[in-house]
Amino acid sequence: METEIDLSSITLRPFKLTDVDDFMVWAGDDQVMKFIRWNTFTSKEEALTYIKDVCFPHPWRRSICIDDHSIGFVSIFPGSGGDRCRADIGYAIAVRYWGQGIATRAVKIALVEVFKDFPDVLRLQAYVSVENKASQRVLEKAGFHQEGLLRKYSYIKGKLRDLYIYSFLAPDSPSRTQDQMS
Ligand SMILES: CC(C)(COP(=O)(O)OP(=O)(O)OC[C@H]1O[C@@H](n2cnc3c(N)ncnc32)[C@H](O)[C@@H]1OP(=O)(O)O)[C@@H](O)C(=O)NCCC(=O)NCCS
Repeated sequence: METEIDLSSITLRPFKLTDVDDFMVWAGDDQVMKFIRWNTFTSKEEALTYIKDVCFPHPWRRSICIDDHSIGFVSIFPGSGGDRCRADIGYAIAVRYWGQGIATRAVKIALVEVFKDFPDVLRLQAYVSVENKASQRVLEKAGFHQEGLLRKYSYIKGKLRDLYIYSFLAPDSPSRTQDQMS
C-alpha cells in the first residue's frame, strides 16, 4: 500500500531534461495516455526530444512534482487573436498516484497562476471523453462547470469520441472584465 501523499508537497514547475526517466514512467504508460492525444512514448530519446522541442517552448506546460520528481503534467494553451479570452487545460498523473487528489490539487494551483500569467484569459476550458469519469470529477472538484456534450467531436487514439466541455471563468473582477472587453 502506497503512503498517502501530503498534498501541500505537490508543486508545479517547468520541465527539465533530467526529468526524462520520471517522464517515461507516466508518458510511456498506455493507461495514462488512453484519453490524451499524445502517443505513448516508447524510448528515452523520443522523450528527451519532446521535452526539448515541445515542453520547453510551450506557453505553459508544467511538471507536477513530488520532491521535485515529475509524476505528471498540467498544460495551459491560450488562444490568440479573437480567441485570446480563452485557454485549454490538460493534465495527467502517473497511475501509482491516482485517487489521492493530486490532479485536483495541480489544477487548482494552475487556476491561480493562469489568470496572473495570461491577463487576457478570462475562460479556461477542458474537453473530456464521456468515458473519462475520473477527469470529469477532477474538473468538478476544481470548480469547473459542465457546459455541454459535443457528440462525435474528436478522434482520440483512433476512436471517435463524444466529449464534454467544461469551463472555469476568471474570478469575478468587473474592472478586469470591462478592460478586457473594451
Ligand atoms: C484523470 C486523472 C488526471 C485523475 O488524477 P487523480 O490524481 O487520480 O485525480 P483526483 O484524485 O484529484 O480525483 C479523481 C476523482 O475521480 C474519481 N474517480 C476515479 N475513477 C472514477 C470512475 N471510474 N468513476 C467515477 N469517479 C472516478 C475519484 O474517486 C476521485 O473523486 P473523489 O475525490 O470524489 O473520490 C488521472 O486518472 C489520469 O492521469 N488519467 C489519464 C490521463 C487523463 O485522462 N487526463 C485527462 C484528460 S481530459
